[in-house]
Amino acid sequence: MNSVKAFAPATVANVCCGFDILGFAVDQPGDEVTLTLRNDSLVQVVSITGDGGKLPREAEKNTASVAVRSFLKAIQSKQGVDIALRKNLPLGSGMGSSAASGVAALVAINELLGNPLTREQLVPHAMEAERIACGSAHADNVAPSLLGGFVLVRDYQPLDVIKIDATEELYCSLVHPHLELKTEDSRKVLRHSISLKDTITQSGNVAGLMIGLMKPDYGLIGRSLKDVIAEPLRAAFIPGFEVMRKIAVDAGALGFGISGSGPTVFALSRTKPIAMAAAEAIQMEFNKRQLKADLFVSKVNQRGAYILD
Ligand code: HSE
Repeated sequence: MNSVKAFAPATVANVCCGFDILGFAVDQPGDEVTLTLRNDSLVQVVSITGDGGKLPREAEKNTASVAVRSFLKAIQSKQGVDIALRKNLPLGSGMGSSAASGVAALVAINELLGNPLTREQLVPHAMEAERIACGSAHADNVAPSLLGGFVLVRDYQPLDVIKIDATEELYCSLVHPHLELKTEDSRKVLRHSISLKDTITQSGNVAGLMIGLMKPDYGLIGRSLKDVIAEPLRAAFIPGFEVMRKIAVDAGALGFGISGSGPTVFALSRTKPIAMAAAEAIQMEFNKRQLKADLFVSKVNQRGAYILD
């Protein structure tokens, strides 16, 4: 075997109250990366499709090659690879686009070299790719893309990543308006000090969401899908945000929020018809504001990235 193709799913980071500590993966869409072994030690990006020419091709700047290089260094390998990336995720969308490319590349190189690292051990290498892409090495996109399901990043120093034993009966609506918002920019608006009152509210919601997902208690999940830290500051980037929350909940969704750093929004629902109705209603609100928007409705992905062939 000298060539492997891997798929890594989009992710919803934060999940409202879990700013930088919680995320989940969806079944679709996702990015695909094909790696081919070379006879030398060069790691290079040979092709990228689907990015409109926007992503860097240089090995030290592309998330797929940065992740592969970090992995090879860790296992002390001088193996070279050609990387071909098929971007299916929109850039700057808040759907974990940069994470998915790095994760697919890591799963492929790990497979090619006989799986020397576990999925959990791949997380820090995927975080290096995030650092290159958006200036901060958060794990709330890469960890669920690697592991599947809902993943808690309990701590960063040292890294403590836990896959939650969550209900599998949840559908996610993702609606992506045609706006590009860089994570770096939507992090700049955040406050660096949080009041005691907001800390208490946020902690209660994170704990409620964890318990709700594990019991499962869908009412509790819905009551806990609230964010008083990032959302109040980031909602201004998303035209019609508060109206969309109301119509998503009116359509029967458990809760609604910003996917990652936006501008994509997400809703969680118990059934596919509700998830579809919520997604269509949100899409219509974007359209009313002269914004085109794509919708994706999918079950929460349980297995994370996988080998395609
Ligand atoms: N937790 C990060 C943020 C994820 O919200 O800035 C970005 O996708």
